Amino acid sequence: MNGSLCAIILAAGQGTRMKSSLAKVLHPLCGIPMIDHVVQAALDAGADEAIVVVGYQGDVVSSHLQARFGERVRTALQQEQRGTGHAVLCALPTVMEHSTSALLLYGDTPLLQASDIEAMIEARGQRPLAMLSCHVPNPTGYGRLIRDEERNLVAIREHRDCTAEERRIDEINPGMYVAELGFLREALAALKPDNDQGELYLTDIVAQAASAGGTGTVEADAGRLAGINDRAQLACAEQAMYEHIADTLRRAGATIRTSARIDASVKVGRDAVIEHNVVLRGATDIAAGARIDVGCVLEDVEVAAGAYLKPYSVCAQSTVGPRAQIGPFSHLRPDTHLEEEARVGNFVETKKTRLRRGAKANHLAYLGDGDIGEKANVGAGTIFCNYDGFQKHQTVIGAGAFVGSDSQIVAPINIGAGAYVATGTTVTKDVPAEALAIARIRQENKEGYAPRLKSRLQAAAKRKKSQ
Ligand code: UD1
Ligand code: MG
Repeated sequence: MNGSLCAIILAAGQGTRMKSSLAKVLHPLCGIPMIDHVVQAALDAGADEAIVVVGYQGDVVSSHLQARFGERVRTALQQEQRGTGHAVLCALPTVMEHSTSALLLYGDTPLLQASDIEAMIEARGQRPLAMLSCHVPNPTGYGRLIRDEERNLVAIREHRDCTAEERRIDEINPGMYVAELGFLREALAALKPDNDQGELYLTDIVAQAASAGGTGTVEADAGRLAGINDRAQLACAEQAMYEHIADTLRRAGATIRTSARIDASVKVGRDAVIEHNVVLRGATDIAAGARIDVGCVLEDVEVAAGAYLKPYSVCAQSTVGPRAQIGPFSHLRPDTHLEEEARVGNFVETKKTRLRRGAKANHLAYLGDGDIGEKANVGAGTIFCNYDGFQKHQTVIGAGAFVGSDSQIVAPINIGAGAYVATGTTVTKDVPAEALAIARIRQENKEGYAPRLKSRLQAAAKRKKSQ
């Protein structure tokens, strides 16, 4: 296509049927607001810029788009909703000088694919206008495509303006068009609100195109063109999108079980395995060959090649290094970094903690604000006492150090490389490298005392029972 393409996306409506205080187009599908999917499809299909027409919660929608897309997406305000044609008119002054054609989309059709848009652009050829169309079993509510005897498209009639005979037409307008900009400007200027709603209908440009070279149509898959008006339709569309995301990843070489839920923003490499009931959100990135076992929930987590996350681990804003292992039931809280081959086991909670290469904490521990050296071993039940009620403090453990089970490290503490903390020690002072730290009362054994103690306790229990 010659010249530059500008996308105009209509999103001024409130979306009353969502019954929500959030603007309809900001409701998420697979972790990403509805409008972002539409904008992304337009940009992927070659639009140089997108103008989103906003009205209801215009400020909120605008600032969201600004943060997400920066300068390629601008907004135009439609103060009063006087119809889809009026909405496009509101965007025209914002269109850049060098644009030669406009892609017109509705903000509530998030399943649309860039390939659908590309097919439509192709179908326009030298014509002033092209649009998608589809056949649906129940066309109620949609605008119908009115064709002449030669099957040329001559008009779109809204459901409420249709005759009984026209209502039987099952070819409908899903609401995606591409227009030559000169034609669009003239056609919009000529729109009249002579319809049941007294609005300016964008769809009336089709009748105008009929006498100016005609409208090209491309039949597309109805499943991808569905509009979302309420939360039941949103749930359906989200399910369809989850399936699409999983299939795309499968075709690229990952194993994705059917009940996994992977957001649109997530990356999964080849030969990675994503087991049942796994939820992957946000900027999560699973490298090649990593395995995420049943029930794990990850948000913004980078998992390196060959890592293994055993069942029911929950991780956020963290990194898991090459061949590292966690779980089952590990909880990596934000800013946890596991280097190569590090291991975190069941019921271990971490926060702002680094486990360097090969370090281990395999059972029942809280590791907050820590730096655990290479190949150091943190025993079962160890607690980093990092918070004094006012401030957080750091625990640093040197390479190859060993922290015995059930130890408490009262931070700030430095345990030197190769040091040994005896089981059950409360560490309150730094431990030099290679030193043994032990802080517990010496054990005393009283020879032959056990039977005497038992009979005394037994007698006491009997007395209590007979009272
Ligand atoms: C529209 C089409 C109909 C098509 C259907 C597909 C028109 C006249 N009709 O009908 O042929 O079959 O979509 O779903 O275009 N909007 C604005 N400003 C307005 C009015 C609407 O921005 O003044 C936006 C809405 O926020 C929404 C989109 O345009 O994103 C479509 O509007 P809606 O009222 O849902 O149109 P439909 O009646 O569904
Ligand atoms: Mg609609």
